[in-house]
Amino acid sequence: MTTQPHEPQTGRESQSGLSVDWSWTASDEDWIPPEIDISKPSAARMYDFALGGKDNFEVDRRAVNEIGRVIPDLTAVASANRGFLVRAVDLLAEQGIDQFVDLGAGIPTSPNVHEVAQVKAPGVRVAYIDNDPIVMAYNRALRAPRPGVLALDHDLRHPQSLLEDPRLRAHIDLGRPVGLLFIAVLHFVRREMAIKVVEQYRRLLPPGSCIAISAICSDGMEPGYVSTLEKVYDTSPTPLVVRSRSQVEQLFDGTELIGPGLVDVTHWRDDQPYLPIRVLCGVGRVV
Ligand SMILES: C[S@@+](CC[C@H](N)C(=O)[O-])C[C@H]1O[C@@H](n2cnc3c(N)ncnc32)[C@H](O)[C@@H]1O
Repeated sequence: MTTQPHEPQTGRESQSGLSVDWSWTASDEDWIPPEIDISKPSAARMYDFALGGKDNFEVDRRAVNEIGRVIPDLTAVASANRGFLVRAVDLLAEQGIDQFVDLGAGIPTSPNVHEVAQVKAPGVRVAYIDNDPIVMAYNRALRAPRPGVLALDHDLRHPQSLLEDPRLRAHIDLGRPVGLLFIAVLHFVRREMAIKVVEQYRRLLPPGSCIAISAICSDGMEPGYVSTLEKVYDTSPTPLVVRSRSQVEQLFDGTELIGPGLVDVTHWRDDQPYLPIRVLCGVGRVV
């Protein structure tokens, strides 16, 4: 994978046909706020690089390239994960969910959750949550000024403080079903903590809400790939937690799986070949 660090970013095509102004880029190092640590790779920026974005630094590209020397098709894995997000949001919007909380939202990339959802749910409200300073910088510039969109700097491991935040309460009506997204983020949360955190959100959401999760899964993956991923993410502030299938399944306790159940992102309402990194996903309805 190659990228030109100082090439201005002019746009990414949106699968939904909606376009976003991406003229703002991390490649312009003048604007880097002091809170952005470019001495270590960040999960948000590594993922951006894997998706072909420009909002990353040398340290992030080196980390992704180190993985890429062992594991092929990283871009395809990141795209397949985004594909699951798009199909899950589309299905939930079609089923009447018109408010979403996207936890670990990442650097904006097209199509964003609000762009996908508004096709079936005009007037949708979306809250993007992340705790990476580069994501927040982008959110302030690109997401927050849009109608129906709120972006907050929160650590998703504190469900109560997030759901009690008056800014979130003014935006999302917790008396009505919510689509809660944990897409490619719970593998940055320790196993026991992730189970507790998802359970806490589930208890705070009204019935009919849906929880979408995708997470890296060791079942079906070469052990050498797992250790390579773990080794590289150990150099970042967010070490990777790779789960077995049954450990991912546990995250859906207390919900009823909808759609095809718990499958790889390449197979959730799709039928693509498996990729070298297995990412298990599902959507559970809160009962
Ligand atoms: C791999 S990216 C996934 C982005 C997006 N959800 C997607 O799937 O396209 C993971 C994101 O989760 C964020 N993240 C990791 N731990 C977090 C935490 N404890 N609270 C909030 N965000 C977190 C990272 O900053 C990063 O932006």
